[in-house]
Amino acid sequence: TSAAEAASYADNLMVVAHRGASAYAPENTLAAVDRADEMGFSWVENDVQRTKDGALVVVHDATLARTTDVEQVFPDRAPWNVRDFTVAEIARLDAGSWFDTRYAGARVPTLEQYMRRLSRNHQKLVLEIKNPQLYPGIEQQTLKVLANEGWLTPQHLRDRLVVQSFSPDTVRRVHELSPGVKTGFLGTPDIADLPEYAAFADQINSSYTTISPSYIAMIHAFEGPHGKPLEMLTWTVNDAENARKVVRYGVDGIITNKPDVVEEATRD
Ligand code: G3P
Ligand code: CA
Repeated sequence: TSAAEAASYADNLMVVAHRGASAYAPENTLAAVDRADEMGFSWVENDVQRTKDGALVVVHDATLARTTDVEQVFPDRAPWNVRDFTVAEIARLDAGSWFDTRYAGARVPTLEQYMRRLSRNHQKLVLEIKNPQLYPGIEQQTLKVLANEGWLTPQHLRDRLVVQSFSPDTVRRVHELSPGVKTGFLGTPDIADLPEYAAFADQINSSYTTISPSYIAMIHAFEGPHGKPLEMLTWTVNDAENARKVVRYGVDGIITNKPDVVEEATRD
């Protein structure tokens, strides 16, 4: 890739704050979204799962143990699976102190609360449906919340929303249920399988440790379900050297815990 080509990629590079600006505020909280916004980053990524009583909540792990004080609040409820707690129980948990006591009192947001904050901040979302095998029907339920929150309008679908998953079945289902929604498959499929993925995924979002310039060129050679070249957002790049490398490789975007570091490293 020539320097000029690299520069043109960097100009349009989509920098996505992973789990919010999660190097600087507790992941998947409203504080992490606000931090990304304050730092000037509109795109954020998050993870959605489901509670025992059927509410959608924004949290990464299948258990609440790492990112909340659940072990103290509910000591007899090991292994603290998200799906074994009600939304009211989860609302009692502190999702900030583990990260920094400055964030004491931060909560695990419901998807509704999360979407409202993004709307207020005029932000944009790469929404990951996490562990869908644990939550039958979560695709339809997620789309319903997005619709209720006003996120499936033509304007939002154009440039404000991507729904992604490690599960190809989930990505396909989202595409079939709401064909206007831009979708991403998380993984690095064999090139021979790309035609299959291109039927339902607009993006192939691969770990930066798995990609090469030729792989990205192949991705770009396929058309996604909306008739545009497939895109690649790579994750999770948190240092300047790798950020510059993947831009040279030709990625369309970088998902990062440190959007400021990536922005600085890839500017023109
Ligand atoms: O968006 C990509 C990345 O979030 C996938 O991995 O484990 O951080 O959800 P993970
Ligand atoms: Ca994720």
